[in-house]
Amino acid sequence: MLSVNVKMGNEYTHPDDFDHFIESVTLFNGEVKLANATFVPGTLGNEKSHAEVTFNIRPMGKKLNLIAHAYCTKHGIWESTPVAVEVQQ
Ligand SMILES: [Fe+2]
Repeated sequence: MLSVNVKMGNEYTHPDDFDHFIESVTLFNGEVKLANATFVPGTLGNEKSHAEVTFNIRPMGKKLNLIAHAYCTKHGIWESTPVAVEVQQ
């Protein structure tokens, strides 16, 4: 099992307001969607924060090219830099 932690933002936090929040975080292997987590406003206490989720996946192949998307209700999609992962089996 591979644990993939996705954290939205590094230096900058993001609002968690009712009209402006991170609604979902999606994990891809290249262009193949692997998993998706959704949030409601207030999950992070209506305070500026880093939306964060851990996906536990069982990889089909030995090499993954992991990319995460976060969807903001006001600003749209943020895409991570890809992370190449080699799975030892
Ligand atoms: Fe935003």
